[in-house]
This record gives sequence, C-alpha cells and structure tokens, in this order.
Amino acid sequence: MAEEKKNRHYLTGKEVRSIAKENAKITRALEKRKKRKAAESEFLSEMKDPANILEIEDLHTYFFTDQGVVKAVNGVSFEIPQGSTVGVVGESGCGKSVTSMSVMQLLQGPAGQIYSGSIRFKSYDYKRDEKGEPIPIWDDDEAGNPQYDEAKDRKGNPKLDKEGKPVMVRRQKRDAYGTLQFEMEEKTYDIAQMPTKEMYRLRGRQIAMIFQEPMTSLNPVFTIGNQLDEVTLLHFPGATKEDAKRRSIEMLDLVGIAMPERVYKSYPHELSGGMRQRVMISMALAGDPRLIIADEPTTALDVTIQAQILDLLRDLKQRINGSILLITHDLGIIAEMADYVVVMYAGRIIERGTASEIFHHPKHPYTIGLQKSKPTMDSESDSLFNIPGNVPNPIDMPDYCYFRERCSGCVKACFGEYPPMVQVSPTHFVACHLYDKETK
Ligand SMILES: Nc1ncnc2c1ncn2[C@@H]1O[C@H](COP(=O)(O)OP(=O)(O)O)[C@@H](O)[C@H]1O
Ligand code: SF4
Ligand SMILES: [Mg+2]
Repeated sequence: MAEEKKNRHYLTGKEVRSIAKENAKITRALEKRKKRKAAESEFLSEMKDPANILEIEDLHTYFFTDQGVVKAVNGVSFEIPQGSTVGVVGESGCGKSVTSMSVMQLLQGPAGQIYSGSIRFKSYDYKRDEKGEPIPIWDDDEAGNPQYDEAKDRKGNPKLDKEGKPVMVRRQKRDAYGTLQFEMEEKTYDIAQMPTKEMYRLRGRQIAMIFQEPMTSLNPVFTIGNQLDEVTLLHFPGATKEDAKRRSIEMLDLVGIAMPERVYKSYPHELSGGMRQRVMISMALAGDPRLIIADEPTTALDVTIQAQILDLLRDLKQRINGSILLITHDLGIIAEMADYVVVMYAGRIIERGTASEIFHHPKHPYTIGLQKSKPTMDSESDSLFNIPGNVPNPIDMPDYCYFRERCSGCVKACFGEYPPMVQVSPTHFVACHLYDKETK
C-alpha cells in the first residue's frame, strides 16, 4: 500500500480531505496563538551573544497545503552581528523569502506558519510608564527649570483652551530631524512567540523591509509624501503633520533624491523604477530601523541603477549604524556587500561563514559548484545555478542529504542520514559528510 502511494504522483480526494482536516487542526491552533493576549514576559528572551541584533535558531516555517506540508524553512539557524551585513544566497525556491517573511511575521496565514524555533531580536524601544505611555526626555534649561512652548494639534495649529488662550506644554528634546525624544530601553524579543499585535511595534519601525518590486509595497492612490508621513505619524509619539513632512523630505534627501519636495508630491506611477526603489528605502529609513531586510532589492533594476542602489544601501548602513539582512540569488551582490554569507538549499542552510570563507574556501559541493558557474551580467536569470539535477519535492523531502542527486562527490555516509552541521572554523559551518569525521 505504502509502496503503491509512493509511486503515484497524485493524491486521491479522500487523501486530500484528510490532509486538509489535519492541517486545519494545526493551523487553527497556531492562528489562535498569534491572536492571543500575552504578557510581555511570554515573548521576552535573551540573546545568546549580546553582540548580535538577530539570532534565528532552528526555525521551521511550513505551508500547510492540501497536497501536504511544504517545509519551506526546515531548521534554519544563523545570526546577524550588530552593524554587519549578512547575505542569504540560494537558488529560487530555497526558502530565502520565507525566512525573511518569518522575521517580519508577514507569512500568509492560515497556510503559512512559523511552526517552531526562535527568532530573537534585540529591540530598542520606548521605555513606558505604568500606564504604557512613553516617557519624554525634557528640554529643561541649564539650571534644570522646565521650559514651556505653545501646544500644537496634529495639524500643527496652536491649541487653545476654553478662554481662547494658547495651551502651554513642557518643552521636550528633539533630534536632528525635529522628532520628539523619549527614554529608550533595549529588550530582546522572540518574534516567533510574539502575538501579531505586538509586531506592529517592530515592523516598519525597528525592522524595515525593502522588497524586489517597490510597486507591491507603495500604494498607487496616495502620494509619496502621504505614505512617508504615515510612517512618522504612526511610529513617533507626538509627531505632528508638520514634523512628519519635515522628516519625510529629509529622508528623500538622504537617499539621494534631487528634488525631494517634488517627489514628495508625486504618485508612485510618476516615478522610474530606480526612483521608486529609492523611495522605498527612504520609507524603510523613516522608521529609524536597527535592522533592514532587503529581499532581492535590485533584481528588477538595470545594472547601472543596481550599482547605485547597492552603494546607497552601503552608505546608509554606515550612517544609521544598522544591520542588513540581504537576500539575493546573485553571488556577485553578496560578494560586494556581505560580511557573512548563509547558503541555503531546499529550506536548509548547507554552509555559512564569513564572506571570505565562503568565497575563498568554500567547502560544500553546492557552494563550490556555485563559485565555478560563471556569473553573468543578467542577474535576473538563475544562470548561476547551472548545476545539473533537481531539488527534491518539498512535500516529501528525503532523509538523506538533499543535494545527493546533484552531487558528484558522494561518499558512503551520503547514503545514510542527512549530514550534521560541522564546524570547520570559529565562524565557518558546513552540512556535508565530507567534513564529518564520525561518519566519513
Ligand atoms: N503560499 C505558499 N504556499 C505554498 N508554498 C509556498 C508558499 N510560498 C512559498 N512557498 C514555498 O516555499 C518555498 C520557499 O519559497 P521562497 O522562500 O519564496 O523561495 P526564495 O528562496 O526564492 O525566496 C518554495 O518551495 C515555495 O514553493
Ligand atoms: S553530504 Fe554527500 S551528497 Fe551531500 S553534498 Fe556532501 S558529499 Fe554530496
Ligand atoms: Mg524570494
């Protein structure tokens, strides 16, 4: 019977119904968990290494489909040291985007779910008083006397009391962009345990995402200014429309847009692809993020613009002292940008290390194959990945090395279990039996 099923390429109606029923049970429980009201202590965590901004540990992200469970991310672990760029590379469908969408909690439910694992993020957020309000930093004079200004409403008009006299408020410190300052504190959250509602504090604020196609994240019916202002108004307490506009123009200027006032008033369709990507980056920056996730940020752009956008990203990373998770199928981009490289294959990490280790001393036959295949100027094609053979069916992954059908260097152990992750230097890891002393 089992043998018979193995040789079939389709599922019967009965099988599909039984899978769907089983899936519904699991996804209902996971959805309920995301919607639960949870005390902060339930998702507070601690970094294994305080030098990291993100630590992903044994992450499993699955899609529960009627055909079976797609283990899109199947036990992924890596970290991003603060201030560094980590590049994730691998051919199309290997789970790069699903990894980044997991970090953002942007998976499409109920089918897509973080099934298990941890995503620890070191957040830098407003310290709150017992009422949950952020605590202002006052701009007192040198002798410590409070200073007062006329209060303004969200539109920037003076607030008046019942007698028509201006309302006075204590003066609060502002940053270089005029944004009000509050007391901050560092906390580590496990995003995999966070209810969706809590994610709003992080998403677009502390972790920003830049996608391949800016039109998917820019709203065509609102002006650029409108959408940029929204980021400030949403994430910065006490910001007025006037504050937001000033900040938006500064951000557009920061990403090298020559006439920021004009672009501020434009609609997305009035801009070129390169300009839209700059706008997306300025929008990501508007939240003042600690971590930027860039998923194929230049794939849709032509080569010259591509180089400009990469320069811009590099420059901005320095400026905001941030960290970047850079996802691409283009090894050339990784070589140019990344400090650390993670190589993914069929939902798992097969090798990771410093950029120099991965480029000069690749260990895994897949990584070695990638290096040998010549990069082309046309980075839109997957021509880098011209190693013959297929990736196994994601619903029915084998229990041996997923690369075996394509590997020319197999040893006896390769016909046994999936290879363990072997450490070959303090920073270099590879999942291949060739380096596994015990099973070789
Ligand atoms: N909504 C979905 N339903 C089912 N499978 C999905 C869905 N989204 C992605 N996947 C599967 O997850 C795997 C990883 O996809 P993805 O992370 O988008 O790859 P890439 O490395 O190209 O970014 C693929 O096998 C893909 O088919
Ligand atoms: S474990 Fe074996 S089959 Fe897999 S990549 Fe290494 S040598 Fe090849
Ligand atoms: Mg992708």
